[in-house]
Amino acid sequence: MVMVDLIKKKKQGEALTKEEIYFFVEGYTKGNIPDYQASALLMAIYFQKMNQEETAYLTEAMMNSGKAIDLSAIEGIKVDKHSTGGVGDKTTIALGAMVAACGVPVAKMSGRGLGHTGGTIDKLEAFPGFSVELSIEDFINNVNDIKIAVVGQSHDLAPADKTLYALRDVTATVDNLSLIASSIMSKKLAAGADAIVLDVKTGNGAFMKKTEDSFNLAKEMVEIGTRMKRDTIAVITDMEQPLGFAVGNSLEVKEAIDTLKGNGPADFTELCLTLGSYMLLLAKAVKGVEEGREMLQKVIKNGKALETLKTFIERQGGDGTYVHKPELLPKAKHVYYLRANEEGYIHDIHAETVGLSALLLGAGRETKESIIDLAVGIVFKYKVGDEVKVGDSLAEVHYNQEDRLKDAIEKLKSAYSIKKNRPVARPLIHGIVTS
Ligand code: URA
Repeated sequence: MVMVDLIKKKKQGEALTKEEIYFFVEGYTKGNIPDYQASALLMAIYFQKMNQEETAYLTEAMMNSGKAIDLSAIEGIKVDKHSTGGVGDKTTIALGAMVAACGVPVAKMSGRGLGHTGGTIDKLEAFPGFSVELSIEDFINNVNDIKIAVVGQSHDLAPADKTLYALRDVTATVDNLSLIASSIMSKKLAAGADAIVLDVKTGNGAFMKKTEDSFNLAKEMVEIGTRMKRDTIAVITDMEQPLGFAVGNSLEVKEAIDTLKGNGPADFTELCLTLGSYMLLLAKAVKGVEEGREMLQKVIKNGKALETLKTFIERQGGDGTYVHKPELLPKAKHVYYLRANEEGYIHDIHAETVGLSALLLGAGRETKESIIDLAVGIVFKYKVGDEVKVGDSLAEVHYNQEDRLKDAIEKLKSAYSIKKNRPVARPLIHGIVTS
């Protein structure tokens, strides 16, 4: 088999066989295929697309490029949750504790933030001492003992995806449905869960800006999961404005804790209840999503979910007292109040722009090497649809470095649109995709 034939075939719009896809993935990962040929094939795939079968083979080849994790030593049905990423997305912290408190094992691999979206690991590190460096044995033991553990993504988890993603990033071939779906699913499948709930974000702060594209991505991923014999459901959720009120690592942890106490923002609480009820359903802990919702509400009310978070933080070396005293979490030195200079209804708090503003404050990583400031971020006082008067405080900007503030505020201001008429509300949940 020679690479130039594969490129030619795809360029002409023909489907690649399983053997050809494995040849490409294995050859590129081993360094036998040069970047220029891999780039040419990616660009041909970008324009000619892949059918569902090719996408499934690509996923499988990338999944098999490293060591898949064997979670069979964990009792019960393991359900993973994956978010395609958004602004203010602290879901894993609250949802993981809620689902684990219901007795369903949560064995999660999470990542760090890059660009305008945050990462779960960074957020969890707001608890002093917390570490995701667990051996696979400790990871499994923790899930069996306390029903929840979170580790960082190991280097040998779908390594082909890592190399190919880096190449896609510099060849403008990221935004192809099959390439995105296979990239995400290869990692999810290699991470060993029995069932997967996908939170596919849609809107300006999401990877997929258009609802139609988000649904198509969801369908593609559900199809891959089902082919690979994992129960998979996707929930399409809104990312046009930030999720909840808090954006920034410590601030989001505090909001996750508030949610576990039953005092969380309405949208974030609703998202956790929706995703959680599907996780419980796929884990066969409940017969329907309504029952799942009730079970989740119960563990919030009786304090079990909050206690689960504390136990989880302590088990991974963190200071659990912070769960009951979130005021101890890293705190910025200064707060700037962004005030409304016109009255009316908030039409837009542009999520991506908010994420970039938080990045300018130091809450996120501009490059993989950036050191993030866990304390800084933004706390919104109003959401889209709320009415404000001149002088009302729209948001608190928590900052440490004076020289970062001006640009961050300018960016944040540009995220707002306030108009006289009431806006049409966007749904939080746009739809569910099942097999
Ligand atoms: N996230 C991934 O893991 N892969 C993609 O291709 C896009 C987003």
